[in-house]
Amino acid sequence: MSYVQLSDKNTLRERARQHVENGAVTESYSADKDVVLKLLNDSLATELVCYLRYKRHYYMATGLRASVAADEFLEHAGQEQEHADRLAERIVQLGGEPDFNPDSLTERSHAEYTEGNGLRDMVFENLVAERIAIDSYKEIVQYLGDKDPTTRRIFEDILAQEEEHADDLAGLLDGMN
Ligand SMILES: [Fe+2]
Ligand SMILES: [Fe+2]
Repeated sequence: MSYVQLSDKNTLRERARQHVENGAVTESYSADKDVVLKLLNDSLATELVCYLRYKRHYYMATGLRASVAADEFLEHAGQEQEHADRLAERIVQLGGEPDFNPDSLTERSHAEYTEGNGLRDMVFENLVAERIAIDSYKEIVQYLGDKDPTTRRIFEDILAQEEEHADDLAGLLDGMN
């Protein structure tokens, strides 16, 4: 069992007045901020690449059988964009700068931008990308632990949605075999 030392009111008040310029980052923040910002920015790149890939696939999914997949791609694209926004917002809260530079996006992203060759291949590649995101976010959640619970919760929320995405895609793929 871990022993948590609770601070008294005066200590809390005094501490909050120090380094006010750091905004949401207080003295009790115990994570390595540079590492957390790097993890957030790499994940932001991942979300942006996933958004772009889903958008491409949405427009490329044509034909009668494609409409269910296309709807799914579009829905996922919107959710990846929301994930990107949440990560960018957190980066700013921590005093960092969100990196939207398109030149280095695919290099920094965990998941790849794969164009996909036909509908089945598109579904497959999206599933692979979701599985990459799931693995990396799980690791990030473990790394953050109690050091930065707010960032951890953001990653936990996103992780849960990536798992839903993977499940949707696995279902689609199953129906295509
Ligand atoms: Fe996402
Ligand atoms: Fe996803």
